[in-house]
Amino acid sequence: MPLADFRNHHLGLKINWRRLEDRINALAEISPIDGGGNCRLALTDEDKYGRDLVVSWMQNLGLDITIDVVGNIIGVWNVGHGAPVMSGSHIDTVRTGGRFDGCYGVLAALEVIESCQDAKISPPRPLAVGVFTDEEGARFAPDMLGSLVYVGGMPVEQALNVVAIDGPRFGDELMRIGYAGPAPCPGLSPHAFVELHIEQGPMLEANRVRIGAVTSVQGISWQEVTVLGQSNHAGTTPMSLRHDPAYVAAEITVFLRNLAREFGGDQVCTVGKIDLHPNLTNVVPAKATLTLDVRNTDEALLKLAEAKIADFLAQIAASEGVKISTRELSRFEPVIFDDRVIDCVESIAKQQGNTVQRMPSGAGHDAQMMARVCPSGMIFVPSVKGISHNAAEFTQDVDLEAGANILLHTMLALTTLEESQN
Ligand code: GLV
Ligand code: MN
Ligand code: MN
Repeated sequence: MPLADFRNHHLGLKINWRRLEDRINALAEISPIDGGGNCRLALTDEDKYGRDLVVSWMQNLGLDITIDVVGNIIGVWNVGHGAPVMSGSHIDTVRTGGRFDGCYGVLAALEVIESCQDAKISPPRPLAVGVFTDEEGARFAPDMLGSLVYVGGMPVEQALNVVAIDGPRFGDELMRIGYAGPAPCPGLSPHAFVELHIEQGPMLEANRVRIGAVTSVQGISWQEVTVLGQSNHAGTTPMSLRHDPAYVAAEITVFLRNLAREFGGDQVCTVGKIDLHPNLTNVVPAKATLTLDVRNTDEALLKLAEAKIADFLAQIAASEGVKISTRELSRFEPVIFDDRVIDCVESIAKQQGNTVQRMPSGAGHDAQMMARVCPSGMIFVPSVKGISHNAAEFTQDVDLEAGANILLHTMLALTTLEESQN
């Protein structure tokens, strides 16, 4: 069949929602937490069980499965010729994760392949599904670590030596769970990449729009700040003589909040983790360790925010008589997705009768790494009340089904994307 006719010929094709829903529920049965979510931190036993389940589904579909040196799992349905059109996401979660973040994208990509197989259609290129290691960065920073290494953005050795928040080395944990594979990184560049994901924010619901055609991902800056002070007795140490890391951590948190308010626009700032040592009621702490998550769609503003934070840290270290050191955990510039992929998502969503809007992503995603090596984009579906990284994360079935049907037709359309324009 001529390539130009291929897409029109299969316009009526649909994914099997029941099958996709069953897989989402089955994966969520691994490592459940109260409230319907999951705790499947990267490279834990729970991550291994989730991987084993997804790999067994890939095997059932007859995919060619490769596991690479940082544990990324790529399943390819080897039809047609050339580089595959790839979709996928991650199945690791934050400690208090929902059941859809990442898993929906992986399992929808699998469903797309199975639906095509059922319909006995033969795309002109292979279709592939990627399960990328440690997208969350919650246990091993940076976030999107697996896809970053996949595209050659971080040396393998550096990734293997990353140390978890609970102590072990990435490479040792990968080996322990049996997912230190032989395939090299950087991996094979896809022809195109499209990731389906829940929005994780409130915009689609507020605008009563079903589909987001994602245009970009905002820049992300993560750093760990360590404050060393003078530990002492809480009852006997006069306030004027204190060098208190807990107080300094609180001041830093307030500074970030005020900075975000002052910048306005897309600026967001979060202190999500504070550890005090020795963490006792009647002891002025010796040490505070906190993480800063600072994001903006504008790289210049993100740099300005980082500079203002650095100035503040120097200033408060001097005024409080504490030592402050910082360590970069993640730093990614904003990413703009490929116009052709955005157009494709938008037109297919409309064609299928959905409301659609173009929008940036506030969260980080594997697609932002794949954008370094091939035309890439994303499809968002609404998150009820905009809640995510929380067990209460929820998306309506009709939205999940619509998103997966758009993924199906976007992947098929991208198989005919002109190679010469890449
Ligand atoms: C990944 O989920 C991130 O945006 O932090
Ligand atoms: Mn995600
Ligand atoms: Mn997430």
